[in-house]
Parts: sequence; structure tokens; C-alpha cells
Amino acid sequence: MSSLVKLVVLISGNGSNLQAILDACASGQLEAQVAAVISNQPEAFGLERARRAGIPAHILEARSSKDPTTRASLRQEYDERLAELAAHYDPTWVVLAGWMRLLSMAFLSRFPGRVINLHPALPGAFPGTHAIERALAAYRSGEIQYTGVMIHLVPDEGVDDGPLLAQEIVPILPDDSLESLEERLHAVEHRLYVAVLCRLTRREMKDTPNR
Ligand code: GAR
Repeated sequence: MSSLVKLVVLISGNGSNLQAILDACASGQLEAQVAAVISNQPEAFGLERARRAGIPAHILEARSSKDPTTRASLRQEYDERLAELAAHYDPTWVVLAGWMRLLSMAFLSRFPGRVINLHPALPGAFPGTHAIERALAAYRSGEIQYTGVMIHLVPDEGVDDGPLLAQEIVPILPDDSLESLEERLHAVEHRLYVAVLCRLTRREMKDTPNR
């Protein structure tokens, strides 16, 4: 008896990549199922996308503190709760799709080799937030001519860094606005993320044929 590969998708915002994954699952292009969506932001539109697709949508808000010791223990606690919630769905992969919060080893050690991240820049180029904006500024000051998209495994706490699964160059055009560049990058992200997940899913099904 075969069952679909399970994904737990972590989001913080719009969830257009989540939507691309949901659509690929629904059309049968991606032989996987999104078992749950978790957001650290209650307002994330991706939660609505999950609900519309009939998928459990969880909100897990983080608390912070000015005191570094308390902050560290809150972070540890949050990541343990997040791992517990994700593990409940027994995911083959944890898919970060616009998840804008650093994950510590308290989370990552629960899913070794099973956490995948998407980032709107080429490896090493603009880790962290506002990557597209920073790439456009670098283009305008003549430092770069193109940007891109990367998908990688998340083995540790490195920011937008880890063994590469795919990358694709996206040119920046002289009359690009932030919106037009974002739109082209997102289109590449949607296609590339689904392609990588299809590849991983096929490999998983070959390696464990009786799943
Ligand atoms: C995407 O561009 C993704 O690459 C980026 O957040 C956006 C989420 O869009 N992720 C990062 O910057 C991670 N450092 P979406 O919510 O519409 O899928």
C-alpha cells in the first residue's frame, strides 16, 4: 500500500510558494500532500490558502524579551514546540516557504536532512531579509548584473545557507522596479520549488517503495 510523501510547510506571509506547492499536489504533478501549514504570523495570508485547501493551518506566535538569557530560553522553547507540532504530522520534509524566523538546532535536530529552504538570491549573495531589494540596489550601483533563486537544505543555524539543491539566475533589467523584479523572481521560485520537491519525492518513493 503506497502513501503520499508528507510535507509540513512553514510560512510567515503571503504564501504564494505554498500555493504553487498546493496546486502541484492537486494536479498530481507533485506526488505529495501538504499535511499541515504552520505560520509564526497570525496575519499570514498563506494560512487562508491552507484553509481553502482543507489543510490544517496552525499559528504559533513567538514571544521575545529584552533580556538575552530569557530571549535564548524563549527561542529554545518556541523551537521545541514548533518541532513537536511539525513532528505530529510525521513529515518527510519540512518546507520553508517564506518562513522569516531563524530556526535553532532545537528544531533542526528533530528533522536532520529534512528541512528545505527557499531564498530569493544566489548562494552567499544576500542572506537574510529584503534580499530582492538589496539585489536591486546592488544592481543600480553597478555591483551585480543579475540575481537569482536558491533552494537548499538547512543543516544548521546558518542564515540562508546549506547544501544546494537548485539555483537559477534571474536577470535584472535596466527598467526593473522592485515590483517587476519581485514578480519575475517569484515566478522562478514557484517553478523551481515544485521541480525540486518533485525530484526529492521521486527519489524518496524509489528508496522506500512500500511507503
Ligand atoms: C519568497 O520570495 C522567499 O524566497 C522569501 O520569502 C518570500 C515568500 O513569498 N524567503 C526568504 O527571504 C527567506 N530568507 P511567499 O510568501 O509569497 O511564498
